Amino acid sequence: MNSETQLDNRLRLCAEFVRPGARAADIGTDHAYLPVWLCRHNICPSVIAADVNPEPLSRGRITVAQAGMEDKISLRLSDGLAQIAEDEVDDIIIAGMGGELIADIITACPYAADKHFILQPMTKSEALISRLCANGYIIDRQDCCVAGKKCYTVLSVFYGGTVRQHDELYRYTGELHPRENETHLRFLRGHIERLRKQAKGEARFAALADRLEEFCGNG
Ligand SMILES: C[S@@+](CC[C@H](N)C(=O)[O-])C[C@H]1O[C@@H](n2cnc3c(N)ncnc32)[C@H](O)[C@@H]1O
Repeated sequence: MNSETQLDNRLRLCAEFVRPGARAADIGTDHAYLPVWLCRHNICPSVIAADVNPEPLSRGRITVAQAGMEDKISLRLSDGLAQIAEDEVDDIIIAGMGGELIADIITACPYAADKHFILQPMTKSEALISRLCANGYIIDRQDCCVAGKKCYTVLSVFYGGTVRQHDELYRYTGELHPRENETHLRFLRGHIERLRKQAKGEARFAALADRLEEFCGNG
């Protein structure tokens, strides 16, 4: 198995957000492609590949063994960060889960305020951003990519110490720049489409969709 070719644009964008030299944890690692890639490219000296379920963890164990990286990557059964000690990691990647589950994992972690998070929600990025903001976290960088015809977003997040009030629109836009970046625009168009569908049940979503269109330069 070649984890370099297995790393699609989505996981590659996550990897780009990891700080060189950081000890990382990949929460919900499943196949452990990302940990292998991070160590193989000397981005991380060590990675904890964690998963709450034994079956994906054993898939990860096979990837790590085939890559001969057992000395750098440790596999761990862990619900979120429960089995990972504060002094073991600097950067924490949580990719491929729903936005609400990602927010639950961060808010359950007692030392989250001291860490750098790289987050890739599969759904409900607006719920994730809303909960991050409400808990004092800031998005210092956000980008999007296309993988397998789908558009994804990745967020780099730190604890900012104070709760900043954001407009409701920010839950959708985050730190994206749709007027300058086609992929950001594509990601936000997905939000607009979903808001238009939601608007059939609740009128306030129509106004939000209109505002988002305007933010994207289509108003
Ligand atoms: C769809 S896979 C994503 C795999 C990989 N991170 C990616 O983005 O390609 C989601 C993984 O998260 C794991 N998971 C779900 N809830 C979790 C939790 N609370 N703590 C750790 N892992 C969890 C699942 O067992 C599954 O292996």
